[in-house]
Amino acid sequence: MHLSAALLALAAPLAAAVTPLEVNGRYFVNPSTGNRFQIVGMDYQPGGSAGYTTDGHDPLSDPDACRRDAAIMQVLGVNTVRIYNLNPNLNHDECASIFNAAGMYLILDVNSPLVGEALTSFEPWTSYYDTYLNRTFAIVEAFKDYPNTLLFFSGNEVIDTVDSAEFGPRYVRAVTRDLKNYIKKHSDRYIPVGYSAADVRDVLFDSWNYFSCSIDGEEDDESRADVFGLNSYSWCGDATFKSSTYEDLVEGFAESSVPIFFSEFGCNEVTPRLFTEIATIYSDQMTGVFSGGMVYEYTMEKNNYGVVELDKDGNAVLLSDFDTLATQYADLDWESINSQKPGNTPAAPKCSTKLITTKGFDTNFTIPAMPADDSEKILNKGVSPAPKGKIIDVSDFTIKHTITDASGNQVQNLAVKPVEEANVPGNNDGVSFTAGSSGNGTSAKAGEDKEDAGSFLKPALLTLAVPALAMLL
Ligand SMILES: *[C@@H]1O[C@H](CO)[C@@H](O)[C@H](O)[C@H]1NC(C)=O
Ligand SMILES: *[C@@H]1O[C@H](CO)[C@@H](O)[C@H](O)[C@H]1NC(C)=O
Ligand SMILES: *[C@@H]1O[C@H](CO)[C@@H](O)[C@H](O)[C@H]1NC(C)=O
Repeated sequence: MHLSAALLALAAPLAAAVTPLEVNGRYFVNPSTGNRFQIVGMDYQPGGSAGYTTDGHDPLSDPDACRRDAAIMQVLGVNTVRIYNLNPNLNHDECASIFNAAGMYLILDVNSPLVGEALTSFEPWTSYYDTYLNRTFAIVEAFKDYPNTLLFFSGNEVIDTVDSAEFGPRYVRAVTRDLKNYIKKHSDRYIPVGYSAADVRDVLFDSWNYFSCSIDGEEDDESRADVFGLNSYSWCGDATFKSSTYEDLVEGFAESSVPIFFSEFGCNEVTPRLFTEIATIYSDQMTGVFSGGMVYEYTMEKNNYGVVELDKDGNAVLLSDFDTLATQYADLDWESINSQKPGNTPAAPKCSTKLITTKGFDTNFTIPAMPADDSEKILNKGVSPAPKGKIIDVSDFTIKHTITDASGNQVQNLAVKPVEEANVPGNNDGVSFTAGSSGNGTSAKAGEDKEDAGSFLKPALLTLAVPALAMLL
């Protein structure tokens, strides 16, 4: 009773917790401190991409689920969540406000896997039309007024082979341009727009060069990406800076004119996962060029990447990978990581065929004009009706679901702890994990959990997952 009353009292003045971040050269910067911001991120798509339908819900439309997940992620130390599939017409105010109060920024994809809601990799001109653009602009409308909206992704892995790189790049740049122009016309605050790339080395550096170069020679070139994320699974098990090829990534992106970060990482070829890459990602070896990364992914799905298992009633089990990840984060010196100042930024290269090295990759920098339908009208007049969001006061931070830790103990009194700035590991100690337990401690139990999780992979067995886990516990 006392606790929730105290939280209630705290909640009101903290309604607008986080400072909107800015991109300054190749760094994310908190303008109120002048410090750089390193993404400590979590990819958040409960139900997987198949779980998204336009008439149902999306990950930011169920406040009780958001309270549960914001509290659990706050324990880890997460400061940013990425949401892939959003329905602009749902109300996201309470969820966005909960994540805001938990000190977490939002990275939002404007596309979805549904037909007509993303650019296609092949013949992209067939997917570039007014109702598609209207959807992407509606996502901007829905999220632009939240202080914790960090950036939008105009595309995710549209280019993942040389074949898909023939025409895809210029259309991704076209959508990036349209979104940037929409934000400039209709948002009180500029919000960066970038691309999330597949880490396919044949096309990775060409993609980065193609999207971050300047066509007109100016930094504010209208179709230039503001940030570049990569989905990278090259660090598996007990790898090193060198063996993981992270060293090649740092070298390859050394001259980047835009922020670079992992929009996904967390190889699961070796399980249980060790997450030893965490120490490297936030070390001097990487932070000069990279701005952190996002773990793939929060919930356990068929593809076996989750750190939390949800049952059909929304009760959560924190898997042993959760403990390992929490321990890796807890081992770092966040005060020092978060007090870095932005350095210099190399000038954006001028776009030219010389920047592109792989034969077959788009070298055409004449970006397609907007489609000759209602697209330009929507850009100018704005989406109608505009599904605008707004930050609200949240007074209830308690969790309605049962949370169980990796050792099978029920977690008591876990709640979102409102904070004034970006979340850091240690802010919320609502769950005790076995510090230094990587590969030990909970590992006997963890091994079992993992094997079971592995067998869930077979679709036929999926429905058995919940009872099997319950039996195990
Ligand atoms: C544009 O998006 C809004 C908000 O989702 C929707 O209500 C409207 O019908 C859309 N208009 C078009 C032309 O697609
Ligand atoms: C380059 O792309 C534009 C459309 O964006 C197209 O009109 C033009 O024909 C292309 N140029 C070449 C040489 O293919
Ligand atoms: C793991 O923990 C057990 C006791 O819980 C201990 O005996 C063992 O030495 C530990 N192993 C490692 C590798 O730390």
